[in-house]
Amino acid sequence: MTIETVGIVGAGQMGNGIAHVFALAGYEVLLNDINADALEKALAVIGKNLDRQVSREKISQADRDAAMARIKTTTKLIELGPTDLVIEAATERETVKQAIFEDLLPHLKPTTILTSNTSSISITRLASRTDRPEKFMGFHFMNPVPVMQLVELIRGIATDKETYETLLAVVDKLGKTAASAEDFPAFIVNRILMPMINEAVYVLYEGVGNVRSIDESLKLGANHPMGPLELADFIGLDTCLAIMNVLHDGLADTKYRPCPLLTKYVEAGWLGRKTGRGFYDYRGEVPVPTR
Ligand code: CAA
Repeated sequence: MTIETVGIVGAGQMGNGIAHVFALAGYEVLLNDINADALEKALAVIGKNLDRQVSREKISQADRDAAMARIKTTTKLIELGPTDLVIEAATERETVKQAIFEDLLPHLKPTTILTSNTSSISITRLASRTDRPEKFMGFHFMNPVPVMQLVELIRGIATDKETYETLLAVVDKLGKTAASAEDFPAFIVNRILMPMINEAVYVLYEGVGNVRSIDESLKLGANHPMGPLELADFIGLDTCLAIMNVLHDGLADTKYRPCPLLTKYVEAGWLGRKTGRGFYDYRGEVPVPTR
């Protein structure tokens, strides 16, 4: 099946990055969010990130303008009905995702491939509540989407070969690399990455190190581009906690218990960069550790 038009649900940090890379690869993109301000903000962010690619000579000004022209926005979910591929990139909460699918399904054409950018929720369970489990897949992008090379492809138990092969071809056209993961909690990347971040929060909680020493240790001692606490702030502490809970519940192993300090930051609404405060305070000129 050939994909030409793509509907993206959710214009947050993942949704706008996904819209960016699809538009740049020549797809017609319809970006949806319930919040009109979020759509406006997403277009501004995409424009800024495309400008950055122009200034670093990764793309031409004409590529940038053509990509922007391929992105349309809508606050009406049902307008995504006629697209060939839908990517749900809403909040990492199963009830939210399910409600979106329920509203969208009656308006989708029968051939549309339905995907979720979930970083951890069971694809088989999400698919089983739709009318097309064979055309449903996990399509997991990494943040920042325009920069990160990997896309995880997760087949549910019912996903058919044609759907999988269509998405492999899409990833190829995006110029990215696919990693296929089986449908078990948090798949590959987050199964490994989140326990490391959670352990870094335990190291902070137990006073073994502070925010700066923990991040410097992993940056300078293991050549990670960002320290684990800086990375947690970048991903969003609510997302990190949600993924740890999926691992803890889904694998029933105490080694995945979320650190109480991570829970406390989320309870405080200190969710990282997006709220201006997390393990660092971003409200001044330079980020300042909060512990
Ligand atoms: N859009 C377009 N380009 C961007 C960009 C964006 N949003 N953000 C950065 N870039 C580009 C820059 O233009 C720059 O390009 P060049 O190499 O051509 O110069 C390059 O990326 C590097 O950026 P910077 O020089 O500004 O900054 P940096 O060197 O500090 O790199 C980073 C920034 C790429 C984010 C790097 O710190 C990094 O790789 N961090 C780790 C990110 C990571 O681990 N992501 C995965 C998170 S897990 C996940 O997403 C899964 C999940 O489900 C939670």
